[in-house]
Amino acid sequence: ASTLGAAAAQSGRYFGTAIAAGRLGDSTYSTIAGREFNMITAENEMKPDATEPQRGQFNFSSGDQIYNWATQRGLKVRGHTLAWHAQQPSWWGSLSGSSLRQAMIDHINGVMAHYKGKLAYWDVVNEAFNEDGSRRNSNLQNTGNDWIEVAFRTARAADPSVKLCYNDYNIENWSYGKTQGVYRMIQDFKSRGVPIDCVGLQTHFTGGSSLPGNFQQTLSSFAALGVDVALTEVDVTNASTSQYQGLTQACMNVPRCVGITVWGVRDSDSWRSNESPLLFDGGGNKKAAYNSVLNALNAA
Ligand code: G3I
Repeated sequence: ASTLGAAAAQSGRYFGTAIAAGRLGDSTYSTIAGREFNMITAENEMKPDATEPQRGQFNFSSGDQIYNWATQRGLKVRGHTLAWHAQQPSWWGSLSGSSLRQAMIDHINGVMAHYKGKLAYWDVVNEAFNEDGSRRNSNLQNTGNDWIEVAFRTARAADPSVKLCYNDYNIENWSYGKTQGVYRMIQDFKSRGVPIDCVGLQTHFTGGSSLPGNFQQTLSSFAALGVDVALTEVDVTNASTSQYQGLTQACMNVPRCVGITVWGVRDSDSWRSNESPLLFDGGGNKKAAYNSVLNALNAA
């Protein structure tokens, strides 16, 4: 196949990108995005600060702009994200304890009701762990250690049709403390019947030419717990072709690795634009890393 999405679909997977609503009017951007990808994540537009700027007053204008753009082209959508320590609405800042807990529950219910039955995945909770595998301190964590499972139980009840994911960065190296901390949480959730369907490894790689230690083992180990895995926010310093090839190959080697999403279209669209980390250059031209990914997808 000659596009990333079609090549991934050959093995039943998807290949996605993050989209910023404000860039959709750029025809180079939207042409590449609509041609190459078959899964779309809103880069910022479905986060809590965007969707519930005032308590109980939901705003889906930007999120829907992306949702409609994607679905009009037959592309699927990953929801990102419902509960996170960052990009919270400012009014969460004056809440704590049971009132913040209730605000989180109400937020999940409000956003998921709007998108009920429409999305393929939701990143229910994002980035809740420290590098050593302990829980990250945050206002949400301070509502009680069970806040993550409450978020997932709320999400399952709100929309039983969408797959519910935990999403984080620096959980690619199997030997790393954070990877093990997240692994233990998923293992615990599975053993106690807390609803969870997938783990998203953000896959923001910095430097080097080889993959973080035993990357494929991390994917297969999570999968062995009974969850899907996905690479959800891929970008790589200077778009190292060997790292892009390797991460794609690792996903293809693991049956429950369901898809790969790169975190932006062109280098100039990236939050790391000074590192040229994506598959298209600022002019919209395919880079060498694009070919290494496409070939790995086609070989699977
Ligand atoms: O839209 C406002 C604009 O109105 C305002 O004038 C301007 C001034 O700062 O800010 C604009 O918002 C920025 C927003 O991106 C949209 O461009 C925010 O400042 C900026 O902080 C925000 O950055 C986003 C970042 O998440 C925030 O945490 C990046 O675009 C986005 O790529 C990044 O994505 C995260 C994932 O959600 C989670 N994993 C890590 C990843 C990279 O940081």
